[in-house]
Amino acid sequence: MSDSKPEQVEPPIALLAELSHRCPLRCGYCSNPLELTRASAELEPDDWCRVMREAGELGVLQVHFSGGEPTVRQDLEQLIAHARQHDLYTNLITSGVLLDAPRIDALYRAGLDHVQLSFQGSEAKAADVIGGYFGGHAKKLEVAKLVRERGIMLTLNAVVHRRNLHQVDALLELALELDAHRIEIASVQYNGWARRNLAALLPTQEQLEDLMKTLDAARVRLLGRLVIDFVPPDYYGLRPKPCMNGWGRQFITINPAGLVLPCHSAETIPGMTFDSVLERPLEDIWYRGEAFSRFRGTGWMQEPCRSCEFREQDFGGCRCQALAVSGDVTATDPVCEFSQDRGKIDALIAAAVAEPDAPYLYRGGS
Ligand code: SF4
Ligand code: FES
Repeated sequence: MSDSKPEQVEPPIALLAELSHRCPLRCGYCSNPLELTRASAELEPDDWCRVMREAGELGVLQVHFSGGEPTVRQDLEQLIAHARQHDLYTNLITSGVLLDAPRIDALYRAGLDHVQLSFQGSEAKAADVIGGYFGGHAKKLEVAKLVRERGIMLTLNAVVHRRNLHQVDALLELALELDAHRIEIASVQYNGWARRNLAALLPTQEQLEDLMKTLDAARVRLLGRLVIDFVPPDYYGLRPKPCMNGWGRQFITINPAGLVLPCHSAETIPGMTFDSVLERPLEDIWYRGEAFSRFRGTGWMQEPCRSCEFREQDFGGCRCQALAVSGDVTATDPVCEFSQDRGKIDALIAAAVAEPDAPYLYRGGS
C-alpha cells in the first residue's frame, strides 16, 4: 500500500464523534441505525482522547460531540478539554435533558465553545409527545438559559415534519427569547429509524410551500438578529442535496464503537468494510481507507451522473438514499429528476400523504 496522499484530497473540516447511542428520548425521526451500539462496546476515554489528538494532527477544525445523547458519557468534559488542547472547536449536540447547572459549568470549564440544543416543537405538551419524554421541553428551556448565562454560543436545532411544521414561526420566536445565535430547521432525513415513519412524518407539498414563505419573511425580519439555516426535505426537490458535501470530502464520522464512517448511515451499505480507530490511524483511514475511497470524487459514477454538468455540485446526491430506494448504491440519487427511479420517490410521496393518520412509531432499544 502506498503511503502517499491521494492528490486533490483535502483534510476533513469536521469530525462527528458519536459518543454513545444511548438516549433518554425516543424520537420517531431518529436517523441512527436500527441496530444500536451497546454501551459495553463503546470506546474507552483514552481511545477518544487519542482520536482528538489524531484529528487535530489531521487538520480537522471542529468536533461535534453527538450520539444518541453524548452527555450520558461522564468523560465528556475530558474529551472536550482534549479536543481544545489540539486546537479543535468544540460543539455539543444534545437534547439537554440530562444537563444541570453544575454539569454545564464543568463543560464550560473544559472549554466547550458551542451548544446545539434540540427542540421537538415550540409547545411543551406536543413537543414532549414527539420526543417520547415527559418534561423534556421545560428542561430544555432551563438548559438554554444556563448555557447563555455562561456565554456559550447557542444554536436551536429543530427537526421539522408534518406534525410540527406549523410551529416554525413560534420556534423562531423561541430562538430569539432564548438568546440563540442561530436556528437550524432541518427536515427529517429518512434514514435509520426515521424511514419507518415516512408516512407519519413526510410533509405535504402545501405545508412545504407555506414553510418557505414563513422562512423568506423571517429572514428579512430577523436579519442581523438570528441566523436561520434550513435543510429542505429531500423528496420534494428536483435535484438531490450534495450529501455530506461529497463523500470523503469534508466530513468524518466515528461511531460509538470506533468505526470510522464517511456518513453516519454508511453502515447500511452491505459489503463495505469500515476501519476502526482501534486498529488504524485516522489520517491513514481518511486518505487511504477503502470506505472513504469508494465514492470519493466522480470516478465511480454511472450515467446520467457521469456526464452531468452538476456532478461536481451535488456529487450524485446521497449513496444511502440510492441504496434504500433504487437498491443500487452506485445509482444516481433517485430524488434527481434525471434518475430513472424518480418515479419511485413520487410514489413514496403519494403513499405517505395518502395516509395522514399513519401511526407514529417511537424509537426503541436504547
Ligand atoms: Fe446530480 Fe447526478 Fe442528477 Fe446530475 S444526474 S443532477 S450529477 S444526481
Ligand atoms: Fe449516507 Fe447520504 S446519508 S451518503
